[in-house]
Amino acid sequence: MTTRIDINTHNQYNSPGVTRGDLKTDAIEQLTSWFEHAVKNGVPEPEAVNLSTVDSNGLPDSRVVLSKSINRLGVSFYTNYNSSKGREISANPFGALTYHWRYPHSQNNDGETQRQVRLRGRIVKSPLLESREYFHSRSEESRLGAYASKQSSILKPHSENDDGRDTLQSRLKDAREKYKGDDIPLPEFWGGYILVPFQIEFWSGRPSRLHDRFLYSRPLEQLQLQLPKDAITPIEDVDRMADELVNHTWSIDRLSP
Ligand SMILES: Cc1cc2nc3c(=O)[nH]c(=O)nc-3n(C[C@H](O)[C@H](O)[C@H](O)COP(=O)(O)O)c2cc1C
Repeated sequence: MTTRIDINTHNQYNSPGVTRGDLKTDAIEQLTSWFEHAVKNGVPEPEAVNLSTVDSNGLPDSRVVLSKSINRLGVSFYTNYNSSKGREISANPFGALTYHWRYPHSQNNDGETQRQVRLRGRIVKSPLLESREYFHSRSEESRLGAYASKQSSILKPHSENDDGRDTLQSRLKDAREKYKGDDIPLPEFWGGYILVPFQIEFWSGRPSRLHDRFLYSRPLEQLQLQLPKDAITPIEDVDRMADELVNHTWSIDRLSP
């Protein structure tokens, strides 16, 4: 049977208008300000962000991750370096992040704020120190889970009654036994990435689809020259890159909705 669903749900967007005068000159500060507004207004998991990457054949891929910091360089997230996304980033160290937040207007409850933020950028590996610090802030079960999961690989069934879940559980048990009573160290295949943006677009949903869109850009070449490819970034390089990037001003354009 073929089922067809026609999707006719329709939303009228009426977010507060955004004008150029409302915007900060620095795109990352503007992102921080919208993120904090989403947090203040109770958006569930505002840090959830769609991450898009492109594989070595030029085919796109996309999934949700949790952003764990918005910092001077860009946005950080953590994952398994050998996962599909990790392999895609090794082959092509560029990516895009998309946040979508909706929440009632804080002043009057007669409508919703709808915001989208899109980032495009170079992706670099986080400094070891940051990955280690974040890994150790996670619960013991999550740390063991990182060892148990060869993220994105096929889980071969253990037996006839298994669909692969038992294989995963048995890998978790092995990890638990291996590290029993010991510190669980940061695996060499796991850690952070930072997406360093060359473009960030801020979108606010307005009536009649006449949305406000502002695009911040800075030349891609500035990032290309400075960022390492597929290597852990030394912490001092993060500071140096951030200091250099801060001197490059963002241009800001209003885009047609
Ligand atoms: C809300 C949410 C948050 C997630 N956070 C992460 C995360 O921070 N890191 C991660 O590796 N996967 C996270 N995932 C799982 C990913 O979406 C994805 O399934 C996994 O990373 C494997 O992706 P890949 O095969 O493309 O590498 C999250 C999923 C959801 C729905």
